[in-house]
Amino acid sequence: MNASPPDLSLGVSADDVPEGTKLLGHVGDDPVLLVRTEGVLHAVGAHCTHYSAPLVDGLVVGQTIRCPWHHAAFDLATGTPSRPPALHALSCWRVEERDGRVRVTGRAAAPSAAVETAVPDGSSNPTSVVILGGGAAGSMAAETLRAEGYDGAVTVVDPEGAAPYDRPNLSKDYLAGTAPETWLPVRDDAFFAEQKITRRLGVEATAIDAAQKTVTLSDGTALPYGALLIATGAAPMPLAVDDPHRRVRYLRSLADAKALIAAADAANTVVIAGASFLGLEVAASLRARGLAVRIVAPDPVPFHRILGPEVGAFIQSLHEQHGVSFHLGTTIAAVHMSHVVLSDGHALPADLVIAAVGATPRVDVARRAGLATQRGIVVDEFLRTSDPDIYAVGDAADWFDGRRGEHLHVEHWVVAQRQGKAAARNILGRREAFDAVPFFWSQHYDVTISYTGAAPRWDTVTVEGSLEAHDCTIRYHERGTVRAIATIGRDAESLAAELDFEQSGTLA
Ligand SMILES: Cc1cc2nc3c(=O)[nH]c(=O)nc-3n(C[C@H](O)[C@H](O)[C@H](O)COP(=O)(O)OP(=O)(O)OC[C@H]3O[C@@H](n4cnc5c(N)ncnc54)[C@H](O)[C@@H]3O)c2cc1C
Ligand code: FES
Repeated sequence: MNASPPDLSLGVSADDVPEGTKLLGHVGDDPVLLVRTEGVLHAVGAHCTHYSAPLVDGLVVGQTIRCPWHHAAFDLATGTPSRPPALHALSCWRVEERDGRVRVTGRAAAPSAAVETAVPDGSSNPTSVVILGGGAAGSMAAETLRAEGYDGAVTVVDPEGAAPYDRPNLSKDYLAGTAPETWLPVRDDAFFAEQKITRRLGVEATAIDAAQKTVTLSDGTALPYGALLIATGAAPMPLAVDDPHRRVRYLRSLADAKALIAAADAANTVVIAGASFLGLEVAASLRARGLAVRIVAPDPVPFHRILGPEVGAFIQSLHEQHGVSFHLGTTIAAVHMSHVVLSDGHALPADLVIAAVGATPRVDVARRAGLATQRGIVVDEFLRTSDPDIYAVGDAADWFDGRRGEHLHVEHWVVAQRQGKAAARNILGRREAFDAVPFFWSQHYDVTISYTGAAPRWDTVTVEGSLEAHDCTIRYHERGTVRAIATIGRDAESLAAELDFEQSGTLA
């Protein structure tokens, strides 16, 4: 029988809080977590400020705690998030240990925002910073500049009119109709005003003059910069298909999602091109709206190149159990008014056609400016491009991973935010190599896949545990080295693997 969480204001025996303990209790109506680490006692709010994961299931590393769901980290002494995706602090509580009892004596005052002073190295105090793109990476960079004490002009340019929002949710709860739009903003307009961050919304950057250090915007304005950060993300890859009525829809922005929801409300059948993470998340969300969903993809099994055939087959059967049908080994050849025709000659009814066949990094402006590009904009481990005053991050960048000795391109929310933060610090002269271990998650009905590490190539996949029981670890090996793991129902293992990758580049 589970004991109910103790009232920490009444106190618990110190023997119940030995070194390494996480003890869940409460103070009044507030759930509070007691942690003893490296001999120091802390009491903090028990739920992550991102999506409310129970931190009692998290991992304590030094004086921080990491969240089990999406690997945010919090400083236990101050509650402040030390890495995204969480942006808001945990509540902090005063705790005392006396006469063999540990007692929480009340809420601690919120710490005043710690402002670090940049270490000048000659290029550390740009006259102004212009950021192209106000998504995950760009908005994180803007707020980090202020958090680091930078008081010069910060301008964010973005063609989207919305404040930064939770893009991953667009294919999940928001599309399914289980999350209202009010959940989506990551920061609101008042935040940017208070931080004195200027936003130029509804216009995009069209050219960079690296010699003159100016950016030209689509309204003709020339914006001078001291340092420039390119965080323009990626655009959906167009579906190569005969589509005379322009019926194919894509999902990248909030506007796309709203248009999709309106169209789904008037539809009974949908065909989705692409058995990608995005395509299958959209499938699950549109099933929740009651549409008949058909997936068309050239792959023999979904995700087989990324996650391996066993996981792919499991995810396919999970979707089939929820009524999704698959047409694999084929592609859409033509889109008509009420149906699509496949390359194998079959016709499928389609009130709605959605393409989720990959994304292309938005690098045009960078390329025209003469910056080195591969798939994305090439940056070194400090996220600096081939021009020393221009940085690039997130989905738009290929960054040099010093641990692996190669450039990586990943399109993950958490990585984009962390790179935005790291680039801002480097713009201010900190010269910190970006070495965070990549992490992403993908949600399909009640199954969440957490992926830690990066295995763009692998030669062996091993599955430990049971996919069907939603309790397993999948390891991706490259020439004997584990490069990444995916877990289902094993958050603790995902966190432990992240630490191993950080410390040794592979699993302990
Ligand atoms: C529907 C959906 C679901 C996703 N789900 C997940 C998930 O579950 N887990 C996960 O890890 N990742 C997920 N991702 C990926 C994740 O959202 C991206 O990796 C992340 O948003 C990348 O951040 P970014 O800042 O590089 O780009 P973005 O967030 O795309 O921001 C780029 C911004 O740049 C702006 N821009 C473009 N061109 C210009 C220009 N010329 N000038 C100025 N601004 C410009 C754009 O308007 C945009 O606002 C998902 C993506 C989508 C679309
Ligand atoms: S719920 Fe904690 S990082 Fe998402």
